[in-house]
Amino acid sequence: MAGLIPQAFIDELLERSDIVEVIQRRVSLKKAGREFAACCPFHGEKTPSFYVSPQKQFYHCFGCGAHGTAISFLMEYENQSFPEAVEQLAEQAGLEVPREAGGDDKREAHAPLYEALNAAAEYYVQQLRHTPKAVEYLKNRGIDGNTARDYQIGWAPPSGLIEALKPRFTPQQLVDAGLAARRDDGRIRERFRARIMFPIRDRRGRITGFGGRLIEDGEPKYLNSPESEVFHKGQTIYGLFEARKAGTRLDDIVVVEGYMDVVGLARAGFRRAVACMGTALTRAHLDSLFRQVSRITLCFDGDAAGRRAAWRSLAEALPAIQGLREVRVLFLPEGDDPDSLVLRDGLAGWEERLTGALPLSETLVRLLREEHPTDTAEGRTRFAHAAMKLVATTRDPLFRDQLIERVAQETHLSPERLGEQLRDAEDGSARATAPASAPTDIPEAPDSEPAGAAQETPSALWGALLARILQHPELEWSQPELAELTAFPGTAAQTLGKLLEALRERPGCSSAHLLERFRDDRHFNRLQALAARELGDGDPKVTRQVAMDCARQLLLQQARTRIRELTRAGRELATEQREELARLTALLQKTNTG
Ligand code: UTP
Ligand code: MN
Repeated sequence: MAGLIPQAFIDELLERSDIVEVIQRRVSLKKAGREFAACCPFHGEKTPSFYVSPQKQFYHCFGCGAHGTAISFLMEYENQSFPEAVEQLAEQAGLEVPREAGGDDKREAHAPLYEALNAAAEYYVQQLRHTPKAVEYLKNRGIDGNTARDYQIGWAPPSGLIEALKPRFTPQQLVDAGLAARRDDGRIRERFRARIMFPIRDRRGRITGFGGRLIEDGEPKYLNSPESEVFHKGQTIYGLFEARKAGTRLDDIVVVEGYMDVVGLARAGFRRAVACMGTALTRAHLDSLFRQVSRITLCFDGDAAGRRAAWRSLAEALPAIQGLREVRVLFLPEGDDPDSLVLRDGLAGWEERLTGALPLSETLVRLLREEHPTDTAEGRTRFAHAAMKLVATTRDPLFRDQLIERVAQETHLSPERLGEQLRDAEDGSARATAPASAPTDIPEAPDSEPAGAAQETPSALWGALLARILQHPELEWSQPELAELTAFPGTAAQTLGKLLEALRERPGCSSAHLLERFRDDRHFNRLQALAARELGDGDPKVTRQVAMDCARQLLLQQARTRIRELTRAGRELATEQREELARLTALLQKTNTG
């Protein structure tokens, strides 16, 4: 990729494009009030729940939760990378995409890491061609040239990478990219030596890390890139980009354990497998998968370790189920993995086996039954308690009712009785909420609106406030209370600061403009979710009122906490702190009365 796309250009591009036109060209839209509606292109449905807002320049599906800007739409619908989507929009708008060389933003700072990782991948591929024993190893495992090319599989020789990349990258850049490690004497050494290399890509197809396998016995069998500025294992899914790239729209995805499983399945013609690279499946993994498809199948070994992994994934998956989202679980025969199964049974055999995956609800019952056999009253009681704890973590009320029905069958208790038990358990846990003073992150997938500002947690208040600014940039947001809030610690306050800055720079911009400024932010997905959240204010006046109530409430909470800190018994205050205290006290009085 040649340089960065400046933010000002993205702003102009969004101004000159219309999301309705962009989507209309691909999906047939019908006018629905101030918005446009269609059957969602991201999941199968018969009645429209996909809406496009010309005001916000934003789309949102109430069925599967897909949402985003015109750029996001092209990325999702046409499997494009960010620069590709920008390029295409620009072409339609008759604009030339400028590239900047300098600049000091975060994307720019990471550019050399991506370049080094890319250069390393190319080097490894080239090395593989000259290393017969590595090629032989892959062949013996059934991997052909095409598959190796699709996944850019390479070979890291015992040494040579540093030498090859030296002219283009500094030693520190290679360390930062996770390709080299510092030795005690300060010099660097290569991280991956004598290993088959699997490049790991992010959603946009950029290489962010590697996994490397020994071809002889030894430890560790696989070595992975360390966490770095660009590689976050808990958020990365191996093979997802390649699966999207493979062409046809993805309807479902199968999560397997290892690199070789993904590659082996692809070789057999099954291109919908991805892997979490030996880590437990996280909520971030699930969210990222559910952005692509509504059905996910998780594969686990039939042994004890596999069942433990299944338990953990079950706990992560239950709260993620909503609407059309579906998780199924496939337990594999002991001693087999998908790679060995597809080699033995072929593609048809593998697909046949997949149809036997258990729904999440049945997995729950099966795992619980192993721990608490239901052949005695005591066993059924323990089963019911353990089950209701898990059911309490679900969000979708219909799914919850279904689970209760199922647990009722299993325990001979009535669904009503189980429902009561659930409410009791929830009342207990609701009392143990976090203290109101901690710096707040942007709330994760906050899907409910606060009831009344005064009783809410900071995270709910921040969510309600940020959602309103994101969705209504046309309203007046230059109140001093908001500026005050940006000074407090936490990423939510930082985000507010960035939003206000964007509004000052570009009065009258759309929601899409605001969002696109955060595309590289760790919290981009959460912000998108806030932009898609249903507010139910009805009137812009109410929207502003609610937002300002939240802001005042947050100010009060933050100011009180700080005042408590400053006035703690026995504390000596410097002049500066005395001034701060006076300012906060005044603020408190003003906010209380205003
Ligand atoms: P497996 O041991 O099941 O490996 O680990 P595999 O993918 O089936 O590979 P082959 O068939 O033995 O070649 C599953 C995944 O766990 C991670 C890797 O991501 C691997 O693909 N892992 C495993 C490690 O990170 N380090 C290890 O030492 C082993
Ligand atoms: Mn294997």
